Amino acid sequence: MTSSEIRQKFFDFFSSKAHTIVPSAPIVVKNDPTLLFTNAGMNQFKDFFLGNKTAPYSRVADTQKCLRVSGKHNDLEEVGVDTYHHTMFEMLGNWSFGNAANSDSDTGGYFKKEAIAWSWELLTEVYKIDKDRLYVTVFEGDQQEGLERDEESFREWKKYISEDRILNGGKKDNFWEMGDTGPCGPCTEIHVDCRSDEERAAVDGKTLVNADHPQVIEIWNNVFMQFNRLNDGTLQKLSANHVDTGMGFERLVRVLQGKQSNYDTDIFSGTIEETEKITGKKYNAAAKPDDEEWKQSVAFRVIADHIRAICFTIADGQLPSNTGAGYVIRRILRRAVRYYFTYLNYKHPLLHQLVLPLAVQFKYVFGELYDQAEFVAKVIKEEEESFLRTVDKGLAMLNDISENISGEDAFKLYDTYGFPLDLTKLIAAEKGLTVDESGFEAEMQKQKNRSRAAGEMETSDWVVVAPQALAEFVGYDVLEIRTEVIRYRKVKAKGQESYQVVLSANPFYAESGGQVGDTGKLVINGQEYQVTNTKKENDLVVVFVESFPADFKGGEIIAKVDASRRRRITRHHSATHLLHAALKQVLGAHVNQKGSLVTETQLRFDFSHFSKTEPDQLAQVEKLINRKIRANIPVVIREMPKEEALAMGATALFGEKYGDVVRVVIIDENYSVELCGGTHVGFTGDLGIFKIVSETAVAAGVRRIEAVAGCIAEAYINGQIGQLNDIRQALKNPKEPLKAIENLQRENSEIQKRLNNLEARQLVVLRNELLQKDEIVNQINFVADIVEVSSAESLKKLCVEVGSQLRDYVVMLCANINGRAFVALNIAETVNAAKNLDASKIIKEQVCTLIKGGGGGNKSLATAGGQEISQLKEAIAAVRSLLQTTE
Ligand code: SER
Repeated sequence: MTSSEIRQKFFDFFSSKAHTIVPSAPIVVKNDPTLLFTNAGMNQFKDFFLGNKTAPYSRVADTQKCLRVSGKHNDLEEVGVDTYHHTMFEMLGNWSFGNAANSDSDTGGYFKKEAIAWSWELLTEVYKIDKDRLYVTVFEGDQQEGLERDEESFREWKKYISEDRILNGGKKDNFWEMGDTGPCGPCTEIHVDCRSDEERAAVDGKTLVNADHPQVIEIWNNVFMQFNRLNDGTLQKLSANHVDTGMGFERLVRVLQGKQSNYDTDIFSGTIEETEKITGKKYNAAAKPDDEEWKQSVAFRVIADHIRAICFTIADGQLPSNTGAGYVIRRILRRAVRYYFTYLNYKHPLLHQLVLPLAVQFKYVFGELYDQAEFVAKVIKEEEESFLRTVDKGLAMLNDISENISGEDAFKLYDTYGFPLDLTKLIAAEKGLTVDESGFEAEMQKQKNRSRAAGEMETSDWVVVAPQALAEFVGYDVLEIRTEVIRYRKVKAKGQESYQVVLSANPFYAESGGQVGDTGKLVINGQEYQVTNTKKENDLVVVFVESFPADFKGGEIIAKVDASRRRRITRHHSATHLLHAALKQVLGAHVNQKGSLVTETQLRFDFSHFSKTEPDQLAQVEKLINRKIRANIPVVIREMPKEEALAMGATALFGEKYGDVVRVVIIDENYSVELCGGTHVGFTGDLGIFKIVSETAVAAGVRRIEAVAGCIAEAYINGQIGQLNDIRQALKNPKEPLKAIENLQRENSEIQKRLNNLEARQLVVLRNELLQKDEIVNQINFVADIVEVSSAESLKKLCVEVGSQLRDYVVMLCANINGRAFVALNIAETVNAAKNLDASKIIKEQVCTLIKGGGGGNKSLATAGGQEISQLKEAIAAVRSLLQTTE
């Protein structure tokens, strides 16, 4: 069976059990402060488990793109070293939601009995895994938690498998928790023993379950969600029971294809073959850690694994960057680069060449990569090129180093230049030097502590005051409303206390789709409480307030959105849609939104486009938008099935999660149709005027436009006109200000030319005067003086000129140029050699400290600039005495 067939059989099986097959959620998580990436199939369903939201169906199945790169679940540095851990992997899952809306249509939810029966049926009858190779584990209970043994799972398993193959497991393996808090419950795992018959006869497989044996592995986890773990550590029973199962797809395929390693399956073999073709190296799957080819085989696996994580996260809208999720991608990418650079001896961008084959492989599973393959490859190539340049720079730096490398320096190389420790170590070792690794680790730990302290937030448990009330967003139509608080909690960040509140009828728009969150007020018992922001936590809308009544017991309150701020935001959001459509018309259909920020002061729109948008194209875009504004087109908002919207040609964004029914914003059916949850004006005329402020590059293949609309645009245009008036006045109101400026520029450059000529002549005079002052110090011709010149450049030139007339010289010239101290030092090569004098070293050690500045250069010629003009004489004296004392 190919991997595609295996995946399809999973879907077919659960379809036959009345499950609805749903798409994977994006791998990049948007509205969860605790997660950067989807790390389990259940992430997207968390709110169904907690009862914050009603599931549309009671039974679903899917394959979810997951990424585990840090924390308890995975360690990036291990990936590729073994044969079964991955950064990105697919998790096949079947789900039952005990409190779904449409439970009748799919015959309702299920629990342990069905979940266990179906896992067994699928594995043994559909996939035909030998029953003798299977073991299962059940939760043995935990006294401290007050949890009993999972007898029900035990009883169900006994129907299919002999009792001696049902093993007990403790909290670590058989009680699944999403994190420190959140939904959790007992689980039962299925393990498969892939060893040969001889090995199985020699050692009982049962003893190897959960013992990190590479051939006795867990393939499927069935979690029975029954609890919510609270902040104080207690378990709260959920209002309904749910099933969450997760089967590692890559492992399953490995078992079914009878391979020893996940990388030998057809999921990875295509990428490995491609890498072989590009690099001319061969992958040796059997290499052992002591073999010469070991590191090379790890490199092949690292590349095959990492390219998937890199591609799918970029396709879901996350560009590599220096912070957060973007930084994780950058680290993964750099790890892959350093493996091919070092161990496959390949010194050019490689990864981007693997994008298209991968996109084709996953075309029918995760089509978002195929649709954007060219863009993704371009982003990756640029990242590779820039990192390879850094590696080159780092190599040059390391070449100059002749002492053992301190932990601090190794960390600086890593942190500032992105230069990884193992490469530093490798190069150091080639030169017979060592690296202080524990010093490096200590620096790394310090940095981690710093960033943890900065981002730490303490969140108290929710206090529920209206458990029955339902949260509903009413802010499309209403900006002020009498409502009630459903729950609230205290949070503490950076020592500052504030509150978060969930409202029943809620007019505050939560930050999403690029639109910033609303601000405003809550009025509680006549007292006003400032709302500083509104955000989503998964699907829950959380209103942030500065303070909150201490003894709040519930009851009616008033919620008021800052209406004028919201109006400005709304105009910028509608303007963003007009811009998106205009860019597609003017630049072409390849333009796709890559990021957007809609605030009260401006809009920022990032889009895929491979070159600068030319001024005339920007003018066309602006003109088109302003025409649409003047046409005062009604903005029609409709809810409709996703399929219908897409058939209308609606623009959907990659990396966005959409339900079956979507909200569609239509500004002239033939102009702009977008899926969008944001707030919009009633008619385009409301925007007044639209103005582009800037167009810049953000990353490879991504451009950014900043623009303004409405009263902000008016203020911007008036500001520009005001500046022009000021310029006119400064030029004494000429008829044609541009001509006046050009005349000034021309005059200026002529004066400059004349000045240069004069100075050149003066320099000859100065040079001759200086040569008169030549004195012999310790057999050296020493010329030193404070001179009058107009620029640091002239000072340097003069210094070289004086030297050119002498033998065995040291020339040191100083000047006060516009209130700053400048020094130039020129040393003959003969003196470099005979007296071991280095101009750059002298400048740094003797001069810079005195004049309080910086400088540098080379052995023969160096310069410095600083604040202390009064110290120039001292500096000359210092150099003179150095010459006197030198051997
Ligand atoms: N939540 C469980 C896991 O991630 C099963 O899906 O392993």
